[in-house]
Amino acid sequence: MARTDNLQVAQDNWIGCLTYQSTATKIPDATELQSLARQARARNRSVGVTGMLLFEEGRFLQTLEGPPEGLEAIWSSVARDQRHSEIEVLSKHMAPARLFTGWDMFLSSNVSRIPDPVGGQFDLPPAVAEHVRKAVQMSLDGDDIGLNALMAALAEQGWTSDAVLSLLIEPAARALGDAWLADDCTELDLTIAISMLQMAGHAVRYETAPQGIRSSRYSILLATAPGEPHMLGTALLADQFTDAGWQVEMAFPDTEEALLNQLGAQKPDAVDIGLSDALFRQQSLDRLRSAVEHSRLVPANHPTVVSVGGRLFAEAAATAASVGADHARMTVAGASIRMAELVRKSRRENSRRGR
Ligand SMILES: Cc1cc2nc3c(=O)[nH]c(=O)nc-3n(C[C@H](O)[C@H](O)[C@H](O)COP(=O)(O)O)c2cc1C
Repeated sequence: MARTDNLQVAQDNWIGCLTYQSTATKIPDATELQSLARQARARNRSVGVTGMLLFEEGRFLQTLEGPPEGLEAIWSSVARDQRHSEIEVLSKHMAPARLFTGWDMFLSSNVSRIPDPVGGQFDLPPAVAEHVRKAVQMSLDGDDIGLNALMAALAEQGWTSDAVLSLLIEPAARALGDAWLADDCTELDLTIAISMLQMAGHAVRYETAPQGIRSSRYSILLATAPGEPHMLGTALLADQFTDAGWQVEMAFPDTEEALLNQLGAQKPDAVDIGLSDALFRQQSLDRLRSAVEHSRLVPANHPTVVSVGGRLFAEAAATAASVGADHARMTVAGASIRMAELVRKSRRENSRRGR
């Protein structure tokens, strides 16, 4: 198991920051997850550790930050906890400032949508929310210089690529959607602002991806849902999958038929079909369900893993099961890692069936 030894070489006032992902050995229900987070908060607070815990489809993603001794104490408990396995450290570094100031454990999960009186997991940590507010304003003002400067400042503070995507760009897209719904901006303002976020998001690259994750030989078709004009998630996925070594094709089809034509020609290992990251698009669910169902049939004799995404899934209003997909992403962050696992699993099952 990876250890945090190099975190001991601390500069004055710098803090250690560790991010890992793991698989739950048993799926926790909302009560178990909240009790885990509550205990974690109490102990983290006692040793000056802050962070976030994301639980999605049987997987944990956690960032822990704090003084090296405190972080080491928590990590040595977490690493031998039997409630999860396949623990993979994604990043481990020293940072000049905390990301989760004031948050002993920020919990985000689609199974625990019950308000938690202690945690309040619906809100972003205040320092993060302030960055989101700035990003929204700058993208509405068309201030690309300001946005780029913000991205550079966050990278300098030690924000990981996943943190920028899931804690800044995606929340900013949802806030822009809310601004449009509240009539605070026009549809054109919204579309331009989303493409500003998309440009800023291109600055996020996965240079620090662990070796091995980069050398994937899998192929994926990244498509917007038929007729969907917002392409933020699809564009951000393209950077991530390319950096992870996937063969990437993109499609922005107007109709289901156009999507299926491209799938039939390309026969990728996986397809991701994205709805808007800013707006809910409930009215598109039936069409998406049909696109998912037919996507499975088109590349005959070639199993294709189907994933879906967009605000509707990020806020757990809809699930993978409700549209017949293999996976619904709550965030773009870490998507290539999860998809590689699903493709591997589908290939294993397929070769077992063929035997
Ligand atoms: C995914 C996951 C994340 C956890 N995160 C924390 C945490 O941030 N802080 C914490 O004190 N315990 C956390 N725990 C619980 C610890 O693993 C452990 O049960 C607890 O700290 C008690 O430590 P001990 O068993 O060494 O006494 C987590 C457990 C799991 C499964």
